[in-house]
Amino acid sequence: MRTIDVAAARLLAQRVLLPLPRRWDHTRTVAAQARSVAHAVDPEDRDLLHAAAWLHDIGYGPAAVDTRFHPLDGARLAERLGWPPRLTALIAHHSGALFVARASGWAEELAAYPNEASAVTDALIYADQTAGPDGRVLPAGLRIARALERHGPGSPQQRAAAQRTPHLLAAVSRVHARLQQRQSAA
Ligand SMILES: [Fe+2]
Repeated sequence: MRTIDVAAARLLAQRVLLPLPRRWDHTRTVAAQARSVAHAVDPEDRDLLHAAAWLHDIGYGPAAVDTRFHPLDGARLAERLGWPPRLTALIAHHSGALFVARASGWAEELAAYPNEASAVTDALIYADQTAGPDGRVLPAGLRIARALERHGPGSPQQRAAAQRTPHLLAAVSRVHARLQQRQSAA
């Protein structure tokens, strides 16, 4: 696989999210959180994780908005700009997006991207779900509960929650377990 330019990913995210300062604050924390759990993924996947953390929410940027389902819009923008397929697929499926896609009618479009299930997807979930919308770090359970409250009753997020929440929390637990394993092996 060709190398991933993490600095270019950061610059692109900064440019696309410039009109959305809170989203940029959130993104910077997601990138920092991804860096903090980098040891939970294989060394050769760390740049991929880091770049995905920078780019995961570019679908919110005005330059990307099309369907208004941000994981899909972000993946499509990254694809148009020539980012590698594995990275664009991570954007498409970040934080259990498929569950929300099923509840909002975008599952078929999202299926154009392979849904990787790996230490990288888990670490990306950890990073995204421990970074609040204003960039503050908070426990995943609290972040998920607050997001559901924000989206409100009847939202695709709430309709997806019964499946998505355990999926997210299990990923966070696996990240903790991998970090512990690495620590005790060191
Ligand atoms: Fe995010």
